[in-house]
Amino acid sequence: MNLSGTFFYFVTFILLFINPLSIYSYNSILYNETEPGFKVYRLIPYRDDILVIRLIKPINESCIEPQMDFRILYPNRTIDVIKVDYPFPEYNFCFFGSETYYRIDVERSFPNFISILYVNSTDLSSASYYILLASRTGKIISNTYIAPVPIINGELYADGYLYSHQSEEFGFIFSYYETKTIVAWSYFSQPDIDGNFHPINYGKFYLQNPSDYYSLFPGMDGSFVIVTKNSTDIQTKSNKFINPSEFTTKIYVYFVRPTMKVDGPFLLYQSAIPRLKVEFYCDTAYTSTGDMCILIMKPHGTTETHLMKISFQNSGSVSSVNKFANTMGIKSGDDIMFNYMYYGGYLVRIFRKVDSNNNRLMVQGIILDNDGNYNGTWNYPQNLILPAENSVTTYRNGTMILAYHENEYTWKLLFTDLPRFIPDGYGYDNPNIKATYPSINSNIPLTTTNINITYFLSVTASANYISIYQYNEDYPILRQSISGNSPLLSYSSDNMTINIKILESTFNQPNSLYYVVIDYNAVKDWKSNQPLMGIERNHWKFNTTNYQEIFAGDAVGQLSLTIEGTKYYESLSSYDQGRFLSQLRIDLAKSIPVDNNRLDDIKCCIYDKSQQFPKIILSLPIKSTTSQNERNVDNIIKDLDILVKEKEITPISRSNTTNLLEASFGFRRTRNFLDDLNSFKYHLIGIVIGVIILGLLYVYAKKRNPRGKNFAIFKFPLIISDLILSITFILNNGKNVPQLFIPSIIFFIIPMAISFMMSIIIILREIKKNRYFYGWFKNNTHIATLFTILASIDLEMLNILSSQVAGVMLFSAPISEKMRLYIFLGSFIGFFIDDIPRFIIQVLYRKLVVNYDIIPFLTLLTSSIILANNIISRIYHAIVYLRKKRRISLMNIIYDSNVEKSITVPQITKKKSRYSM
Ligand SMILES: *[C@@H]1O[C@H](CO)[C@@H](O)[C@H](O)[C@H]1NC(C)=O
Ligand SMILES: *[C@@H]1O[C@H](CO)[C@@H](O)[C@H](O)[C@H]1NC(C)=O
Ligand SMILES: *[C@@H]1O[C@H](CO)[C@@H](O)[C@H](O)[C@H]1NC(C)=O
Ligand SMILES: *[C@@H]1O[C@H](CO)[C@@H](O)[C@H](O)[C@H]1NC(C)=O
Ligand SMILES: *[C@@H]1O[C@H](CO)[C@@H](O)[C@H](O)[C@H]1NC(C)=O
Ligand SMILES: *[C@@H]1O[C@H](CO)[C@@H](O)[C@H](O)[C@H]1NC(C)=O
Ligand SMILES: *[C@@H]1O[C@H](CO)[C@@H](O)[C@H](O)[C@H]1NC(C)=O
Repeated sequence: MNLSGTFFYFVTFILLFINPLSIYSYNSILYNETEPGFKVYRLIPYRDDILVIRLIKPINESCIEPQMDFRILYPNRTIDVIKVDYPFPEYNFCFFGSETYYRIDVERSFPNFISILYVNSTDLSSASYYILLASRTGKIISNTYIAPVPIINGELYADGYLYSHQSEEFGFIFSYYETKTIVAWSYFSQPDIDGNFHPINYGKFYLQNPSDYYSLFPGMDGSFVIVTKNSTDIQTKSNKFINPSEFTTKIYVYFVRPTMKVDGPFLLYQSAIPRLKVEFYCDTAYTSTGDMCILIMKPHGTTETHLMKISFQNSGSVSSVNKFANTMGIKSGDDIMFNYMYYGGYLVRIFRKVDSNNNRLMVQGIILDNDGNYNGTWNYPQNLILPAENSVTTYRNGTMILAYHENEYTWKLLFTDLPRFIPDGYGYDNPNIKATYPSINSNIPLTTTNINITYFLSVTASANYISIYQYNEDYPILRQSISGNSPLLSYSSDNMTINIKILESTFNQPNSLYYVVIDYNAVKDWKSNQPLMGIERNHWKFNTTNYQEIFAGDAVGQLSLTIEGTKYYESLSSYDQGRFLSQLRIDLAKSIPVDNNRLDDIKCCIYDKSQQFPKIILSLPIKSTTSQNERNVDNIIKDLDILVKEKEITPISRSNTTNLLEASFGFRRTRNFLDDLNSFKYHLIGIVIGVIILGLLYVYAKKRNPRGKNFAIFKFPLIISDLILSITFILNNGKNVPQLFIPSIIFFIIPMAISFMMSIIIILREIKKNRYFYGWFKNNTHIATLFTILASIDLEMLNILSSQVAGVMLFSAPISEKMRLYIFLGSFIGFFIDDIPRFIIQVLYRKLVVNYDIIPFLTLLTSSIILANNIISRIYHAIVYLRKKRRISLMNIIYDSNVEKSITVPQITKKKSRYSM
């Protein structure tokens, strides 16, 4: 490869050309070395505005001192001297073969590593590419084998390159010539704290011409973009055409994404002009315009140069092709470097050979706007001796940095602010973002439950995440992380503002620093569907205000493991179970976050057998604190419940232990008797008041008609509340135990339907056969209808019609003994198909469910009272019936229609009142 991406490998050149029109301001830093001969070779800017400067010390024309020297420039302008001490083979520090660059290469590796690519030996059988990872203080972190060095024509062909992604979220790519026409690449993960990384995607592509140029640069969605040429005219390095009759030139693009298949090749450009020499320089757009290439075309045998800009999207489709009228003074043989600028536009630097030693001169720095139109030139001081093309770079904020030498000891850094083509960012390090709520460095209350981001353009959410972290020196604490398709996301009508709902557990620490990270490709441009860059760590940051917690006493709560979690736990040895629980406790404390010692040891195991597969319930004691700055017990319980319930978007799903917690269960405070009384307080007070009122009514009714079945006053509300509770139970709690759900519906509806039919039949029969009843019925149709319907709940309701409660005429229906018998038989059936099954369901529910609440409790209470009442009354009924039957047979009276006509007499009702309570 003659030119590698945006990097050139020549040592010195002299500046000759100045454009007098430009007016960009400078700022400079001067540095005196203690020994002579150092040259700035490479500038590597990091996200935290620290600049790593690599120095080299040439020995002769083809070799440099075999050492790795760095200067680290901090934002406060302090410069540290750093040396990476490692016995790299000297072979790495010399040009190889006819090439004019050194094998050893340096790249940044986010967040704060330097990666050094080298070849470990010149032995044909074992030569390999290695990456030595060092910290920016020179400490060696790791040394990792990357790939073998290929042998081409019996010689090692070490032509490999590292490219790190522009975003801290992604790793880096390594590409090298496997043969002269095959380029292999591996996409590596970001190194972890110990410097370990691994390949996550790899592949190859083919070149038409041996050692041909390709362009490799990072895209906006975590991709790396590869642009290659496949012209069918074979062209040698000396530009002699071997086969001039073939002439089609094609330029292709591939998109290499982490862990996904490669997209492409997509055809970007095709030309049928014979013997056209095409060079291309490509880069991505910091703004929403996708990627672009500048093509420099030189038709064979002419001195003409044509420039063309091709813009394309990450789908591979070309969005525009523009020819440049201005050729920027590019001459044949010139080399070009091409950079996007963070605030839009592009910088094109043109270099020209000035001597046979390959020294080059930077002829021009041209600034193109977003559309690739000429905007101005980059002016730099006259008569500079520039050490290398690599000694120019840009900070993210749009400042160009140029390094050059004043003399053998002194080098200088020059900072120039280039023009911005899109409105200035507001500190988000993302020029597309106009404003946010909360704004940077603002203070927000703990009760904040929404944040929003306003863009300069219409946007739509994409696949990646928007995450909120609490700042922490050692490790950031994730609070909430949602993807674009989350229902917590909503848009303003113009699609420029994204609103995000925040869980109450997210901002839960007073006086703390939080920040929001927006991944690359979390948001796309609405119009072009192109992924937008995000906001990286520590840019969008804000504080929570002070808040004083009130004291809350110790408490115990319960967590449930998922089915998988239960199986996993059961599969562990008892020693590992203990370890699991203590790790779970630590991970929970981290997720809240709260000091470890606020959580006591987790206790296992109660089994929740309410579902088909049993689950383990764990209990977690939470200790109170007197500190007003720490989350109190009540709030910890609330937070934990939210965190577990929303585990998909909270840290709970991020650790192996807490991820085994059941989301639907949440975190539930375990009730003790006092708590129960406390939380059922109002229910209980209501019930007591109700009973007292009923008691007073009873006394009053008894006074008015001592012989009436005044107990109906209790029975009526009891039956009605049983109905209400049964319905509430089915709606509220029915689904908690799936096995009981269908039975509880069946034993609710079927008995009701049967009772309803029976009550209609009984009433109709009574109307027909009992003229006294008919007489009452005519005057009390409404109440009779109402009770016919109510009788579907419990047939005994019909008895209330004749209860003579408080001597009220309404309830003095003269019903026959036969009807009473039918009611008795009907409710006897109901006892078996309704009361008993429902009682059993309630008891089973009580047994199966772990968290029992007020509704099933009251349902169980009423159904046991009803059951007990029915059993006792059935027995009394039976006794009375039998005795009566004996009396009747003794009196030798035939049960005929006369009996049916007999009306209920007070003596009987009085007796009845005893057994139909
Ligand atoms: C570097 O050396 C020059 C003289 O050689 C001196 O004037 C200048 O102050 C020095 N600069 C620094 C930063 O030490
Ligand atoms: C850009 O960042 C650099 C390094 O922190 C700083 O020196 C420079 O002043 C900044 N430029 C602008 C325009 O903010
Ligand atoms: C340059 O120096 C290296 C190491 O001292 C030596 O091996 C090499 O032959 C030298 N090359 C030339 C061209 O002098
Ligand atoms: C500049 O910043 C670096 C790194 O943060 C620190 O080590 C150094 O002491 C600072 N220097 C001054 C003069 O503040
Ligand atoms: C480029 O050319 C090589 C060699 O002819 C061929 O194998 C390869 O498929 C071509 N690639 C594309 C993208 O056409
Ligand atoms: C260059 O861009 C700036 C910023 O957009 C604009 O103000 C200026 O007019 C442009 N200059 C030319 C020559 O196009
Ligand atoms: C963002 O949210 C804040 C707080 O809810 C609200 O006041 C503001 O109007 C929102 N901004 C936009 C652009 O919707």
